[in-house]
Amino acid sequence: MFAVHFDRFGPPDVLTVGTLPEPHAGPGQVRVRVRAAGVSPVDLALRAGRSPSSERLALPHIPGVDAAGVIDEIGTDVTGHALGDDVFGVVEVARLGGASAEFAVLAYWEAKPPSLSWTEAGAAGTSVETATRALDVLGVREGTTLLIDGAAGGVGSVAVQLAAARGARVIGTGRPESAAFLTGLGALPVAYGPGLPERVRALGVERVGLALDVAGSGSLPELVSITGTPSSVLTLADFTGPELGVRVSVGELGGEPGGRHGLAVAAALSGEGRFRVPVREAYPMTRATAAHSAAARGPRHGKIALTADW
Ligand SMILES: NC(=O)c1ccc[n+]([C@@H]2O[C@H](COP(=O)([O-])OP(=O)(O)OC[C@H]3O[C@@H](n4cnc5c(N)ncnc54)[C@H](OP(=O)(O)O)[C@@H]3O)[C@@H](O)[C@H]2O)c1
Repeated sequence: MFAVHFDRFGPPDVLTVGTLPEPHAGPGQVRVRVRAAGVSPVDLALRAGRSPSSERLALPHIPGVDAAGVIDEIGTDVTGHALGDDVFGVVEVARLGGASAEFAVLAYWEAKPPSLSWTEAGAAGTSVETATRALDVLGVREGTTLLIDGAAGGVGSVAVQLAAARGARVIGTGRPESAAFLTGLGALPVAYGPGLPERVRALGVERVGLALDVAGSGSLPELVSITGTPSSVLTLADFTGPELGVRVSVGELGGEPGGRHGLAVAAALSGEGRFRVPVREAYPMTRATAAHSAAARGPRHGKIALTADW
């Protein structure tokens, strides 16, 4: 099959397109003919050799943890899905990739609603599951005031909408020029960077109950000061968290059991017009090098997607 892959770690131009053996669906899995895939920070880190998991990769490696496509092979123990179904989801964790290819094996998935385009669905998987897990761990519900630091990115833009759908009031940080994007997602925008407590106070919000750090930019002491207690803060990206009493959530790709229920919620909300996956740019798979370069450049609003063009 055609696949984007790399056989040495390095910058985006280590990515090439060639042919590699097809994967097959194991028990509890489906294989899709990929229509679109996402590009995530973990893909960039694995490719650069910067991830602690890079050394676990068998090269050549096909990047991409999220994909959407049409089911063309069904493993044993799979019920409720048929060949030809349009689905979106997440690859098998142990593979740490495989999405940017002609065929990919999904470990969990949902029916793709017509309300999500192929690029949106292809880019959705781990951002939706990560945001859902974070909101669950924090206990975000109706009436919560939640501050999301790094709200405009792939995970943040999805977390804002899912939190708002739960009835939370959301304050989202971004660059000043990202304010309109954040407002469109349903967040009260505030500029990221040092001095956040003062800027949040200036919004006139009485009390911020919970904070989610998606950016991993070193803001945890400020988030603790804003919420008043480390137990009200969760980080997805700052491993110094425990030094301050702040929990870190690493997810399935980091070895933490996942809930795997976010995709169904996102699909349903999308059908009601209350959820979208902001895709700031989509590239054909054969231009994966350009896509990886773009994914590293700010301002990062939502996701970068790859579309099958073989
Ligand atoms: N633990 C987990 O399970 C898990 C799962 C998925 C992702 N992650 C991690 O979570 C992080 C975010 O992922 P993502 O997919 O959302 O990444 P992303 O799409 O690259 O977005 C990152 C966002 O952070 C913003 N940002 C940059 N500097 C900031 C600062 N100083 N303060 C606040 N925000 C800032 C960026 O804004 P600009 O571009 O405008 O600067 C961008 O919108 C990554 O480190 C990723 O590896 C963890």
